Amino acid sequence: MAEVPLFASSLEPYHARLAEALERVARSGRYILGPEVDAFEEEFARYVGVRHCVGVANGTDALTIALKAAGVGPGDEVVLPSFTFYATAEAALVLGARPAYCDIDPETFNVTRETVEAAMTPRTKAIVPVHLFGNLAPVPALRDLGVPVIEDAAQAVGGALGGVRAGALGHAATFSFFPSKNLPCLGDGGAIVTDDDDLAEAARILRFHGSVDKRTFTEVGWNSRLDELQAAVLRVLLPELDGWIDRRRGVAEMYERLGLGEHVELPRVPDGARHAYHLYVVRSERELPIGRGYYRTPVHRQPAIASDVELPGTEEAARTNQALPMGTDLTEDQVREVVECVSGST
Ligand SMILES: Cc1ncc(COP(=O)(O)O)c(C=O)c1O
Repeated sequence: MAEVPLFASSLEPYHARLAEALERVARSGRYILGPEVDAFEEEFARYVGVRHCVGVANGTDALTIALKAAGVGPGDEVVLPSFTFYATAEAALVLGARPAYCDIDPETFNVTRETVEAAMTPRTKAIVPVHLFGNLAPVPALRDLGVPVIEDAAQAVGGALGGVRAGALGHAATFSFFPSKNLPCLGDGGAIVTDDDDLAEAARILRFHGSVDKRTFTEVGWNSRLDELQAAVLRVLLPELDGWIDRRRGVAEMYERLGLGEHVELPRVPDGARHAYHLYVVRSERELPIGRGYYRTPVHRQPAIASDVELPGTEEAARTNQALPMGTDLTEDQVREVVECVSGST
């Protein structure tokens, strides 16, 4: 039997509709900040359950621009986990701010109120909880800590906590539409969402060189727009997202039902959370013969930005996590094959 892919989702069934959307844009002559981006921003804001969406070029720019729009600048501190993709910390650093790394609970892979509070100082200007692997971070418990909470929801589109979608839990949130993400585009893309009118307006200005009218430049910003082509793609795929998340949850249920939990620690989903299962990440003290370990070198030990802070939960998660195949197209036979492969090795 062919090897089970780690990312088991295909856009093949949507190719004809995607081609139609791409052709429509190609023929329209409008390629930058036109009707597709406007429509996607409205549709995605409605999906998340917030008032504003600002489409940008990728999830890293989304974080950087959201932090800047929230007032983060040189000398400020941003509390964020080290157990995440490098971009989470990079966004703070390019603004001249310092990432104040907080620890995580290795069972959920996410920050807690206690770990965030322990990293806060009078210089803290924002908190960036990451919904890692699609599991929901306890954002509501961070909202009264006195500074804006910007969710890094790059891996959690389609997830929810207490019936509120990832992206509508904090003061603002950022998404990535990188091709491997739950809601992909055909290249790079990202978005900032928020209910805060001022933050949304600031982000809109910052994504276009710091200008409202393209003639007067009131800020130093970025050239970071979501393309019309990518917005058109996202408009085809967004209506499929909830169905895809159901299929991902079905795969997680199969792993449980077929006995994976006898061999490794299964993902722990907080009460009231709807895990988006971007990745299906278990924990094991043993090396597993299938899958991939993520963030083995967490951000606070990366050469460019190393810090000597001690983060025991982070070290444990970095050592023991292993992502197993997940995706919308995994069959029960493939899931059984993965479970057999894992069980044969333990
Ligand atoms: C947690 C997290 N934050 C930020 C990003 C950055 O997104 P992008 O690759 O679209 O810049 C990613 C994606 O790779 C991510 O996984």
